[in-house]
Amino acid sequence: MTLRFDNRVVVVTGAGAGLGKQYAILFGSRGAKVVVNDLGGHWNGEGKSTNAADIVVDEIKQAGGTAVADYNSVVDGNKIIETAIKNFGRIDVLVNNAGILRDKSIVNISDDDWDKIQDVHLKGSFATTRAAWPYFKKQKFGRIIMTTSTSGLYGNFGQANYSAAKLGLVGLMNTVSIEGAKYDIRCNTICPTAASRMTKGILPDEVFDEMKPELIAPVVVYLCHEDTQETGQIIESSCGYATKYHYVRGPGSLIRDSINEVPTPEAVRAKWSKITDMSKAKHYDSNVEVSAEYIGVLQKLKNPSENNEFEDVYNYNF
Ligand code: NAI
Repeated sequence: MTLRFDNRVVVVTGAGAGLGKQYAILFGSRGAKVVVNDLGGHWNGEGKSTNAADIVVDEIKQAGGTAVADYNSVVDGNKIIETAIKNFGRIDVLVNNAGILRDKSIVNISDDDWDKIQDVHLKGSFATTRAAWPYFKKQKFGRIIMTTSTSGLYGNFGQANYSAAKLGLVGLMNTVSIEGAKYDIRCNTICPTAASRMTKGILPDEVFDEMKPELIAPVVVYLCHEDTQETGQIIESSCGYATKYHYVRGPGSLIRDSINEVPTPEAVRAKWSKITDMSKAKHYDSNVEVSAEYIGVLQKLKNPSENNEFEDVYNYNF
């Protein structure tokens, strides 16, 4: 069955160019009423214009879709959500995509370079999400996308401000997906790599033209459909390829022999290879599972000879 968005209202931030434009066009072609938000400034965050959003709205309308432009900065996220409510009376999907770059090595990052990056990426996504939340909660439905980057997940020279903001968005998703679960508010994170004005000169020339942003749009659109139950996930996508990314945690090691002892730095050194052994690493779905392990650690220290249920359940390796 075709995935449709009839009667759904979708807000895409930074939809005047690059990835956001392709998301907005695909949502529009699937029946959604689209709020095309874009400040229309330079990739470094300076300036603004109405052009970028207007062009995309025209394109959606010419293809028979429904769209309205919004020129606010994501920092004023509540105004963008107001545009959706004022024009269409509801909001169902929020794609936090707007972004800028201020690449510099750590010592050259000014306070302004730091603040602008955190404001647009992290605070902007928070501001729109907080403003949309009461509508999602009341209607017991909402789909949210955060946008991270390989620079956040893996790091990248010259992008400390951007990396910090982009990984911050994963943290934002982690908690938002927990808080939204009982209201069918699902939140996932896309990690795209695509040709855009932001990546021109960064992505290798020989692959730039092939890395089309429209190859990623179907992943975002799928994640936002009402039938998609996925939440709290990071999906990397590029070149017509998609994969899930997640953290794993090793089984670790005790660094003291009894409950009355305090570990020493030497004990940490002695156990370092075991502390950092990832051969039996696994993914944890919640911090409840991790807390249960800590209880297992304390039980083991208090009663070293007793059979410890956590050892079996969590594949412990004391
Ligand atoms: P782009 O520069 O083509 O598009 C970003 C859009 O956001 C622009 O149209 C810009 O005007 C808009 N924007 C910037 N600040 C805004 C603000 N304060 N309020 C509203 N709109 C604003 O860049 P691209 O490549 O399409 O990036 C989209 C998102 O994907 C960004 O969050 C970026 O960090 C992320 N990303 C992109 C990657 C890529 O390979 N293109 C890689 C990893 C992440």
